[in-house]
Amino acid sequence: MKTVILHNKTFEVFIPETEISAIVHSMANQINNIGVKDPLFIAVMNGAFLFAADIMRNIIIPNAEISFIKLSSYSGTETTGKVNQLIGISDDISGRNIIILEDIVDTGITLEKIISLLEKENVADIKIAALLFKPDAYTKDISIDYIGKSIANDFVVGYGLDYDEIGRNLPHIYKLKN
Ligand code: IMP
Ligand code: MG
Repeated sequence: MKTVILHNKTFEVFIPETEISAIVHSMANQINNIGVKDPLFIAVMNGAFLFAADIMRNIIIPNAEISFIKLSSYSGTETTGKVNQLIGISDDISGRNIIILEDIVDTGITLEKIISLLEKENVADIKIAALLFKPDAYTKDISIDYIGKSIANDFVVGYGLDYDEIGRNLPHIYKLKN
């Protein structure tokens, strides 16, 4: 499907699944090569669920673990500027080497919130892997360790990303058609 209609808006294919797969493999290889000891991956739900699954099945670091955090800041196609924490970290993560898995970093408000939550838990190290990054929307100075692809300020859906909760199941990433 070249275009899809979600809540009356038309989206066109932007990053086909073959390209997503190549990006994810390359990110997993970079993470494998840094030799993080006993990494704890933390996937940011809901958007990162497919990205996290595909990264994890390509990770070959011994004792790799995964956990999940759920935050939400978007309403429709716009950020609300406020982040709600819906599911927190329940395990003891002090002293752990964390790798955050984010579907997309836009303003960076969500990322900043996650980092502040993790810092309170006295983790040893935090690295960030984001499948997509919107540099023109980014307002923070936290550096992102692994970026799959930098994109323009377009609203995208698919491969976990939603438009008001739908479109997460699409295998390709689509962007809003003008
Ligand atoms: P930030 O807090 O502005 O960086 O936004 C981060 C969160 O907003 C991401 O984890 C996504 O869930 C959501 N988001 C940002 N941009 C998009 C987009 O283009 N499509 C769908 N969700 C998005
Ligand atoms: Mg979302």
